[in-house]
Amino acid sequence: MKKIEVFEKEAYKDLGDLYGLFFEDINHAADGGLYAELIQNRSFEYCEIDRKEYTPLTAWSKSEGIEWEVIDTNPLNNENKHYLHVKANANDSISNEGYKSGIFVEEGKKYDFSLFAKGNGKIKVECGGVLELKLDSNEWKKYEGIITANKTFNDGKLVITFENAGQYDLDMISLFPEETFNNKKNGLRKDIAEALKEMHPKFMRFPGGCLTHDGSLDKYARNSLYRWERTIGKVEERPTWRNNWGYNQTLGLGYFEYFCFCEEIGAAPLPVLAGGFNPHKGEGVPMEKMQEWVDEALHLIEFANGDENSEWGKKRIELGHKEPFNLKYIGIGNEEIGQGFFERYPLYHEAIRKKYPEIKIINTAGPFAVGEGYEDGWRSAKKYGSDLVDEHYYSSPEWFLANMHHYEDFDEKGPHVFLGEYASWGNTFYNAIVEAAYMTGLEKAKAVDLACYAPMLCNVNYVNWAPDMLWFDNHRIAKTPNYYVQKMFMTNQGTKEVKTKLTDLDEIIPVVDAKNISGNIIIERNDTEGKIYDIKVTDLSENKTVNFDETVLNEANPRIDLGNVVAKNYTLEFKFKRSLGRKGLKIFFGQRNPENTLLWEFGGWDNWDCNIASSYNRRFSTISHRIFHVEDIEYTLKLEVRGRNIKTFINGINWNDVTDRLPEIEELYTAASIDETTGETIVKVVNLTGEEKMTDVSINNSNKANVKVISLKSDSLTAENTLDKPDTVVPIEFSTTASKENDNVTYKACFAPHSVTVLKFN
Ligand code: AHR
Repeated sequence: MKKIEVFEKEAYKDLGDLYGLFFEDINHAADGGLYAELIQNRSFEYCEIDRKEYTPLTAWSKSEGIEWEVIDTNPLNNENKHYLHVKANANDSISNEGYKSGIFVEEGKKYDFSLFAKGNGKIKVECGGVLELKLDSNEWKKYEGIITANKTFNDGKLVITFENAGQYDLDMISLFPEETFNNKKNGLRKDIAEALKEMHPKFMRFPGGCLTHDGSLDKYARNSLYRWERTIGKVEERPTWRNNWGYNQTLGLGYFEYFCFCEEIGAAPLPVLAGGFNPHKGEGVPMEKMQEWVDEALHLIEFANGDENSEWGKKRIELGHKEPFNLKYIGIGNEEIGQGFFERYPLYHEAIRKKYPEIKIINTAGPFAVGEGYEDGWRSAKKYGSDLVDEHYYSSPEWFLANMHHYEDFDEKGPHVFLGEYASWGNTFYNAIVEAAYMTGLEKAKAVDLACYAPMLCNVNYVNWAPDMLWFDNHRIAKTPNYYVQKMFMTNQGTKEVKTKLTDLDEIIPVVDAKNISGNIIIERNDTEGKIYDIKVTDLSENKTVNFDETVLNEANPRIDLGNVVAKNYTLEFKFKRSLGRKGLKIFFGQRNPENTLLWEFGGWDNWDCNIASSYNRRFSTISHRIFHVEDIEYTLKLEVRGRNIKTFINGINWNDVTDRLPEIEELYTAASIDETTGETIVKVVNLTGEEKMTDVSINNSNKANVKVISLKSDSLTAENTLDKPDTVVPIEFSTTASKENDNVTYKACFAPHSVTVLKFN
């Protein structure tokens, strides 16, 4: 009989802050998203550095007769240099279209309008309702008022009409719903913020992602990378700058607001700072100038935790937050690759450790679950004694199925794991339940302390990256099945993981029938032109070689197909010389069809990588990563496949060496915990099979017979939640009772095919 026994007195692991959130302003997650400002380009600072097609007048339009220009002659302040100068006839107007699909207002709701202006005359402000203001100063002055909307629409504009002819200067034209999250000024969009709060995250990592480290190392450059000190203070005195995801960041949602939001949703703040190094350019701050950067990290800790006698603590108090934010984590770096970062990391580490020994310092381990950046990160973390290492990976569901026990053997005595970004490629129900199964492993792994899904938010009109946890437009949100899994695990985390024993649940189901890496071999150019010659494929078991004619890969002839290789053990050898282009080659092998293949990327990404990736249904997972830059010289390349082991050689030197694991499904995935604050015992069960699993769930030595069942299931593995149909996949809940037998309670569960279930016993 299938059985899950839970031993609630045998606690293994303190679950601490295990499940949290990762916020990055990607996909207009902040501006045009969580940050509730309705006006786009409110301070006329947009420019082509942010995005090629931007101008200072992006999102603005005007009536015919009015003359306007964006100037910087007499600015509001030095951080906010540009403003709009207009010469208006009576009843001329300007308007703002908001973010792409327009402005959303609701009948009966109030909206806070404000602007800074110079000039004299009346203006009429309209957006679903009307507000009249009298401008009466030749110097910059702030004007404010409330618009009450008398209709609802989601494709609106803000229109400002000049009732008197004259010349006016305008800046920081802003419109916020009065109803924001916790009704704060300069606040956050209520529906999105509440959807995050109801997850009960234990921590929030912010502000990125690549956003933290991409950009100029010059603090005052228009495309500066993220410098937290410049994001606090009066909103109109903050700079705006380029967001590396190809748009503008207003920084209206700055570090003070991030800390406040964390506090309001009960999440420990987990800020990430760049480590004086931009890995996208391989550029580091000169070592003799690093002190300023290290000080910035120390200032951040003081800003969060210091008292009124400290310089930065005082700044926080002046901003209106007397109590400390209780910062306990700090991340240095975000998936950096390159020694430049690892030379600078110790400077931060030593300074923070010395001054703030209580702070947990997080090192970083590249963008993949394997490879050179990964190994460098772990080596550095072990050498300096980092508390945690931030791992990132985005992979196919099949990768997750093949790696369910990834962290089982990690050494819990060394630095612990912060899985700071992960997702399986997709927002279907199937992706979500595979992630749920993987999370049972995170919960049990002794070395894993923190984990968060990524990315968190996406405005459907501005997609930089998919999948994402929560999708929205200007008035609706869609919580993905992945969101619901995260929420089920977060709200039912427990405080201590406890022992489980599984009986009669040991069947392993293979996902693919292929055992060998056999299939087509195709060599394809990747942003390059070059000659391929001395090409041969050898069946190592039969000792038989087939030779191929040399060929030039170019636009007209982008690939060469070497046909189907059925051998179990084989080599592909050839020479390559690039004549044009930036990258190198893609060598597909073991290709069952274009969707399902293995791939050797020689000079991949930005000509940085020598990778092996495996793809299922066109969803690639990197299984081996080395840094390599292809040059215009002759290379002798060799791929060697023996069973599921793959090796690559460049000029006789071994670069990649990896065993490709096949995906498989276990009968049930489980984890159990107790919540010492509520007294509940929590059992999480994921059934990835297509069959019902009748299973006895017993809590040993317990009389907690009340059971709350929360489950997520769907008839379709491809089901998704959309803005139009947000409730296709939602959890259901009911209460029941377990039977008492001897000293145990037993709940006779029927775990539906393809389902995630949380059982709460009390
Ligand atoms: O989450 C999206 C991006 O993926 C992050 O900015 C980066 O850290 C990772 O490469």
